[in-house]
Amino acid sequence: MVEHRGSDACGTLPTRTSDRGDPGMDTMVERTALPSNEGGQGTRPDKRNPVSLGFATQSVHSGNRVDAGTGAIRTPIVMANSYELPEDPFTLDPEQPGTLVYTRDAGANQLGLQTKLATLECGDDAVVFGTGMAALHAIFFSYLNSGDHAIVSDVTYEAVWRLFAEVFPRKYSIEVTFVDVGDLDAVHAAVRPNTKLVHTEVIANPTTKVADIAAMAEIAHAAGALLSVDSTFTPPPLFRPLAHGADLVMHSLTKYINGHGDAMGGAVIGSRDLIRPLKHEALVDVGGVISPFNVWLIMRGSVTLPLRLRQHMASAERIAAFLEADDRIAHVAYPGLASHPQCALARRQFGEAGFGGMLAFAIDADRATRNRFVSDLRLVTSAVSLGHDETLIVHEGTPSGREAMFPAVFQAHGLMRLSVGLEDADDIIADLAAALDETFGAR
Ligand SMILES: Cc1ncc(COP(=O)(O)O)c(C=O)c1O
Repeated sequence: MVEHRGSDACGTLPTRTSDRGDPGMDTMVERTALPSNEGGQGTRPDKRNPVSLGFATQSVHSGNRVDAGTGAIRTPIVMANSYELPEDPFTLDPEQPGTLVYTRDAGANQLGLQTKLATLECGDDAVVFGTGMAALHAIFFSYLNSGDHAIVSDVTYEAVWRLFAEVFPRKYSIEVTFVDVGDLDAVHAAVRPNTKLVHTEVIANPTTKVADIAAMAEIAHAAGALLSVDSTFTPPPLFRPLAHGADLVMHSLTKYINGHGDAMGGAVIGSRDLIRPLKHEALVDVGGVISPFNVWLIMRGSVTLPLRLRQHMASAERIAAFLEADDRIAHVAYPGLASHPQCALARRQFGEAGFGGMLAFAIDADRATRNRFVSDLRLVTSAVSLGHDETLIVHEGTPSGREAMFPAVFQAHGLMRLSVGLEDADDIIADLAAALDETFGAR
């Protein structure tokens, strides 16, 4: 790693001091503002010293370097799959940051992105993979052995659910307990002598259940286990799980960090010691490497992360309020709504930062009618994935078994997952309103 931001420079996000009393009294938590940066603090900003920079400045500069050969001010895409060896290859130290031999181990572009992600998440080190699932698999592969027990949130991205519900127990005799992470007593009660890993999403895909990361870290550590956190729905500066006690934070870079829907990637950030096995075994020996071209796209997309996130969140708040006020909508789940069961936790945990750009809602109609609503949309696109510039909706239709873990209202009425994009919020709301009118008849 060429540069990194020491964890003491990261500070903690400001805790919200509400003057509005019980969060349950409001319909929507007041407007949010992303924290700017805690890093600068009087030091002269210098792009070679990330701790001197604000978050937006880090998003622009971190991990980028002037190309020594050409003087190009943006790191070029290095598509070579191998690098020239020194005269005595035995002098190579793969542990030495910046050692480049073969692109499945590391490449010039990967190093830059790893530097940037460690900086933005306030970790010591980071490793990038070809997809978010490869990154998650690397955590599970590195830190679980046959006979170990894992505690996993009962609502997670469905491929994680499948790995733990079907694949790991069958192939590797890994034991799992799925728990409602909204119930910390249940998390505590799930601990066994062989518990090695606790895994959760900060805001769960797709129901938006919120996990209390600091409390879960305490439970995991008391049990001698690691806490790994999928923070895909809550990229920095909205939330930094490492500052709240998580051991490893993971992102699907495919989503907000790239933000443009045109590349796939995954990353894990943490201490140097915890990242080492992921780099040297999971990446090199299993091989889920990312293409340098995708790294380059993600580096470019991530430059605007704080600006995009602000817009995603501001629009999501308005859209959540709009949907909640419509009686054709059976339920809206958005952590910023006072009706969300964990609104108080979300306010405490995210402080002033916001509640993300993802929401789930249920329409009071049968499946065919719900499908008609989606096909009546003219702006919002029906497609999987999230965190893109365009607004995406998914009518979660394929039963996989994990729906049994969803709140009853979603089991009864289906679940629409909305990833709020960067279009004008007025346009998105007008499209949703028009499709509701077309589906149900104008009111
Ligand atoms: C919360 C979450 N984690 C992980 C993943 C997997 O990421 P990828 O599709 O990049 O493998 C996804 C994908 O949708 C996701 O939503």
